[in-house]
Amino acid sequence: MARDSESGFPIEPVYGPEALAGRDPEETLGEPGVYPYTRGVYPSMYTGRPWTMRQYAGFGTAAESNARYRRLIEHGTTGLSVAFDLPTQMGYDSDAPLAHGEVGKVGVAIDSIEDMRTLFAGIPLDRVSTSMTINAPAALLLLLYQLIGEEQGVAARNLTGTIQNDVLKEYIARGTYIFPPGPSLRLVADVFKYCRAEIPRWNTISISGYHMAEAGASPAQEIAFTLADGIEYVRTALAAGMAVDDFAPRLSFFFVSRTTLLEEAAKFRAARRIWARVMREEFGARDPRSQMLRFHTQTAGVQLTAQQPEVNLVRVAIQGLAAVLGGTQSLHTNAFDEAIALPTDKSARLALRTQQVLALETDVTATVDPLAGSYAVESLTDAVEAAALDLLRRVEDLGGAVAAIEQGFQKEEIERNAYRIAQETDAGDRVVVGVNRFRLEEEEPYEPLRVDPAIEQQQRDRLVKLRAERDRTAVSAALSALKKAAESEAGAANVLYPMKDALAARATLGEVCDALRDVWGTYVPADAF
Ligand code: 3HC
Repeated sequence: MARDSESGFPIEPVYGPEALAGRDPEETLGEPGVYPYTRGVYPSMYTGRPWTMRQYAGFGTAAESNARYRRLIEHGTTGLSVAFDLPTQMGYDSDAPLAHGEVGKVGVAIDSIEDMRTLFAGIPLDRVSTSMTINAPAALLLLLYQLIGEEQGVAARNLTGTIQNDVLKEYIARGTYIFPPGPSLRLVADVFKYCRAEIPRWNTISISGYHMAEAGASPAQEIAFTLADGIEYVRTALAAGMAVDDFAPRLSFFFVSRTTLLEEAAKFRAARRIWARVMREEFGARDPRSQMLRFHTQTAGVQLTAQQPEVNLVRVAIQGLAAVLGGTQSLHTNAFDEAIALPTDKSARLALRTQQVLALETDVTATVDPLAGSYAVESLTDAVEAAALDLLRRVEDLGGAVAAIEQGFQKEEIERNAYRIAQETDAGDRVVVGVNRFRLEEEEPYEPLRVDPAIEQQQRDRLVKLRAERDRTAVSAALSALKKAAESEAGAANVLYPMKDALAARATLGEVCDALRDVWGTYVPADAF
């Protein structure tokens, strides 16, 4: 009996040669590292260089997070990935009333250049690539990173890394937005221009489907709504006067990897093929790098269970394998205890070891895109692609991603799928081992890691000291210059230049964001009540 895929189409019990009949392999499959990149973005893929093992981490003060990064580097991680606390993500200082109780909780608290200096102390910025999961205030954290690079004597052109900088998905699924869509997209375009001029190896955006997937999106919805956001960012940059090949090579993506390994590998292959065609055919991109969908993957947080948490080690290994079989460039494997609390040092190390086993003990890095030509995987790739293209067309019919967001389209579609998943789980039709099948009468105790609440006061004290010691006049002049640039028409003045001066003068993250709030206002969702 055929079983439905996560994207909603039937998975055939048996696929055969007819699955590949009538296909032009050049047109649909091609070679690795060649358009339409179905088989991967690089000719040699992992036979040339393994994916980047990039574990998302950060909590408490900059000093505590710095210590965690240095331990991860000692354990063999090959890329850094910074988690920021909610006040930082929302553009508030640690002593802002709205920050109370959240300082250092879901990530590291960064208020100023001084915290950023502590965060990367002893870490040579010309030797690591750093991802920063920051959206509305992404430009500020990029500039603080550049300023710390300058202090280390590292030229901006040698900095490598990524800022997430994808505010559109924040309106859809994650919520850490500040400004309305118009000014947010202006800021994204300013970042594209600034990086092209100043930090050319930096990946300017990580267009994310992960959070939509965690909110309940199916694989087809995840790639359709993510690529729709990508198309919106491309149109924004073109409208800001950039040529497509001047910014598109530095766009990047971020997806989830679920336990349904076959459909996930197919999903990644379909996403690459769709994006390559959109960039070449719709936007006329000529640079091959503009057509390559390079992405990071994180294993599915929502599929972790608090019950029998060790079972998550198995889930994460399968999800990691799915990402690798799908050709990811960078991977974060969740720690098995993350459904309970922040990872301990040991569970964080185990998560990294999972990647090292995949890369070094298996043979999946011995050959490129090993699933290519599989009756099942090629059929699933076509089916996910067709479902995603249908959703992309519906977003386009509504006027594009921003218009669809304002009509609540993506959110409603995702919520409908989330409800279906919940119903199937409650009915036991969707098995979650340890939760609705094979349960334990008595769960074994587990002692989670806790963040010391005293760190909020430590951050407040650091802010008092910083404000007392800095040149108040210089800060005020820099913030006025920033406001003036923000008041100018989009494209007339790039706000990152006065923003960098303000941060260098030790303006705080909250003060810079407040200056922009004064000019641009803040976003109020259509369905707010
Ligand atoms: N052949 C030739 N060259 C190769 C190669 C190969 N086989 N493999 C790699 N390379 C080259 C690349 O071209 C690149 O060169 P460049 O620097 O000149 O461009 C270099 O080696 C590095 O390779 P990649 O760019 O493929 O790998 P990176 O790891 O540097 O970048 C990325 C990957 C996806 C492009 C980048 O955007 C990235 O690292 N993203 C990470 C995003 C991230 O970590 N997000 C975390 C989100 S957590 C979150 O959202 C919060 C929570 O709620 C989940």
